[in-house]
Amino acid sequence: MGAIRGVIFDLDGVLVDTARYHYLAWKRLAGELHIDFTSEDNERLKGISRVRSLEILLELGGKTLAEADKAKAADKKNSWYLEYIRDITPNELLPDVVPFLTYLRERGVKLSLGSASKNAAVILDKLAISSMFDAVVDGTHVSKAKPDPEIFLAAARALGIPPALCVVFEDASAGVEAGKSAGMTVIGVGDPAVLTEADMVIKNFAELSFPLVIEEPSPPDFILTATGFHKDDAELNGSKFLLGNGYVGYRGTLEEYGKDSQVAVTMAGLYDKVGDAWREPVNAPNGFYTVLTAGGDVLNAFEHAPARHQQTLDMRRAVHGRDSVFRTSANEIRVRSERFLSLDDVHLMAMKYQFKAARAEKLVIRTGVDGEVWDINGPHLAELHASQASDRIVVNARTNEGHQLTVVEAIEFDFGTQRVVAEGKTVVREITIDAEPDREYTFFKFISVFTSNDGVQSPEAAAVEHSAAAVQRGYRALYLRHAQAWEARWSRSDVVVGGDPEGQFALRYSIYQLYLAAPGHTDKLSIPARGLSGQTYKGAVFWDTEMFMLPFFLYTDPALAKNLVKYRCNTLGGAKRKAAEYGYRGAYYAWESQETGDDVCTHFNVTDVFTGRPMRTYFRDKQIHISADVVYGIWQYYLITGDDSVLFDGGAEVILECARFFYSYAYFKNGKNRFELLDVTGPDEYHERVNNNAFTNSAVKYSLDTAVRVLELLNRKDDRYYNALIDRIGIRDELASIREMSQALYVPAPDPKTLVIEQFDGYERLEELTLTELKSRIKHPNEYLGGGCGLATTTKIIKQADVAVMLHVFKNDHSHEVKRANWEYYEPRTEHGSSLSACIYALVAADIGESDWAYGYFMKTATIDLSGDYKRFVGPLYIGGTHPAANGGAWMSAVLGFGGLNSDGDALKIKPSLPPRWSSIGYRVCFQGQDYRVEASHGEVKITASADNKTAGRLEVAGKPLQLAAGESETVRW
Ligand code: BGC
Repeated sequence: MGAIRGVIFDLDGVLVDTARYHYLAWKRLAGELHIDFTSEDNERLKGISRVRSLEILLELGGKTLAEADKAKAADKKNSWYLEYIRDITPNELLPDVVPFLTYLRERGVKLSLGSASKNAAVILDKLAISSMFDAVVDGTHVSKAKPDPEIFLAAARALGIPPALCVVFEDASAGVEAGKSAGMTVIGVGDPAVLTEADMVIKNFAELSFPLVIEEPSPPDFILTATGFHKDDAELNGSKFLLGNGYVGYRGTLEEYGKDSQVAVTMAGLYDKVGDAWREPVNAPNGFYTVLTAGGDVLNAFEHAPARHQQTLDMRRAVHGRDSVFRTSANEIRVRSERFLSLDDVHLMAMKYQFKAARAEKLVIRTGVDGEVWDINGPHLAELHASQASDRIVVNARTNEGHQLTVVEAIEFDFGTQRVVAEGKTVVREITIDAEPDREYTFFKFISVFTSNDGVQSPEAAAVEHSAAAVQRGYRALYLRHAQAWEARWSRSDVVVGGDPEGQFALRYSIYQLYLAAPGHTDKLSIPARGLSGQTYKGAVFWDTEMFMLPFFLYTDPALAKNLVKYRCNTLGGAKRKAAEYGYRGAYYAWESQETGDDVCTHFNVTDVFTGRPMRTYFRDKQIHISADVVYGIWQYYLITGDDSVLFDGGAEVILECARFFYSYAYFKNGKNRFELLDVTGPDEYHERVNNNAFTNSAVKYSLDTAVRVLELLNRKDDRYYNALIDRIGIRDELASIREMSQALYVPAPDPKTLVIEQFDGYERLEELTLTELKSRIKHPNEYLGGGCGLATTTKIIKQADVAVMLHVFKNDHSHEVKRANWEYYEPRTEHGSSLSACIYALVAADIGESDWAYGYFMKTATIDLSGDYKRFVGPLYIGGTHPAANGGAWMSAVLGFGGLNSDGDALKIKPSLPPRWSSIGYRVCFQGQDYRVEASHGEVKITASADNKTAGRLEVAGKPLQLAAGESETVRW
């Protein structure tokens, strides 16, 4: 498959919308013939010849005409049509046609028209694009109508380009069929439900990735590369080169690896428990498993180090690549592979695998499904059965909890002979081939995965069907659909940084990682703290999502943000069970939440490295801020997107149930006449069971205020809903108390002299020492610094940003001076034992104008998964994997911090404070349903409202209020 050299366009509905003129002309003719003719009937005429269209029209009316009258009628229709289009102008070109044609011409791609219309040349002239075409093949040149491929074959001939190197753009199914029969790649323009046979379907060129059409590789600044093979990098690379589509994650391991090298195909939302061990996500059997044998040598990089090796990750299109050269005593064999987890159909994964031997030799390829999976607390696949049916391998498994999981592997290859071998839990095809020297052999694998969580009757039947459809569609079409879906993500969410290639790369990488576990396909899941990089942290969702990741989605991809927020509404049941378990009312959200919302955090969550004994931790029962974080997320969703549907669809109920929980948790101090929150754990987990943690109290105050606001909102917008809800949850009698507590909750204030806010009551009395001093007391590299005997517990050294989180989240409630004083005070006392910490210090520093200080922390958070500079163990427990919260923190530091973007829901505010080394930052932002493009440099912001905006939202750039109508832009300097 070479790169595309020719592009052939249908006219109507692709370049220009003349469809309505055709419709008007046919309708007029139908009227004359007394035939009822609707716009639905008109759909059947699209893309087919005039004569055939007339026949259909006559069939509709049950009429016949003599041949001569038919010709006359067709001419009449055409003359009316020509009359209608006489006044067509370039303004009627569909969006982005000219930029796309220009792009193709600049790259030497040849263009032809391939339209059944006999007036194509006239129309191209009127549209002023004739000169961009190398050939025009229209209805005057061919005799057979689409779906016959004649027209496209003629166009390819006219361009002098083989059909396989041409792409067709078509809006009608007949045209799609014609293009496919011509052996071309066909991109449909229109409705995917109609253009089912197209390799890919787009709405219009504005959403098309131009480079993808001609197979132009992604730009180098989107490619992560590791050159050379180093055994010790396998664990880090597994996370670093991760793929994911929100449904499943696949670690960046090599195809020949097994469970000892931490291969993991981690299923989102499918959890299992074995005995008393932690419940964790299930890893599926590995359908990409492939290893080559040459002579006696098994070409597994681990045992037979490659002479040359490169692993790549194309972040733009989410494609993993490997290129290795193995030397054996007799040969030199090159292995290349490319794989992706489809974002278009999350149940599909596909791989292209290629090999080439320098000398003729018998090679054996073993490729199939490896059922020996890596588990931390497994085995989860209690029953595993493999079978082979008409060229596919089917592996069915049942988890201990009774869920079914099916992996189906299908393959496309055209060499050698194969036999299928089952060895233990692994089923492989053994393909033997007498490889010719220097000939590259290619095969494709299509894997489909379904589980009983997916709402299908039979996971097996669904997986079989999806893999068969995938084979049918072919690798290229799957790739195009997948890559286009990722391109769409980047067009929404990319951030372009000027002057700092390293920072730019790390930021993009963070955005890539953030998306991997994002559940675009369901609102029943959220993003786990380690993404889909394996089973660590029980695959559980923490406050990380709301406080560190959600802002990215809120401002760039609201549909995804909605799923994340809805997950909390859907898991309210678990939160209520947890509150009840501890004797409280309302909803106490899980510190570690899986699919039901029940808390999977244990009371003994850390094991002491010295004694091997489990340690009592108070993350589960005392980290009450989690409920406030959930409320914050829901309310932010409403403020930033302007969409109140979530409030009416469970969100308001969550907010009220959380308020009810806080009221039942709080103490009223008579003497002080205030509510206090005693015996809590704040973000700094080294200091558990403290009173009045500043962040917790602020967050709880916010969520109570939010409850009051949401009541007003419901009452105002729909009082019947309001009354029904409060009666259903029986909270009417508690509302006064909630209001009272929102007024009288104590929130620690800055010390009048130092401006420092005490992290919790009595923090000031703890031992003062430096971090270096504390570290000098460490006796074991993995010892836990918190808990009963932890080194930090009795000192002022904190695990992670805590007061600083409050200053960031509630930035408008605190003065510049208070932020500075607290940053300066707490920063040297922070151990950054959590990957959530660095970004917060970056954000607060940027907020107080210290972007240079902030930059180091930005880089720390943005490079965490690239450098691997993070804790692998707490006690004896492995906690490696990816860090989506830190990735979200990188985006926040760049856009909210340096970019100075923020909103209280009233207006979208922008006041950048770029680090000295950045010359600019550019990004797209969504605010209350409207889209804007922001380009900022030092002292200047240009903001442009998208041409599709419906309303002029309220903006404030560098303090200047603005309102921009669709398409308008304004530059503000200061
Ligand atoms: C941090 C928590 C965080 C969790 C998951 C812990 O180490 O202290 O704040 O939610 O990791 O990332």
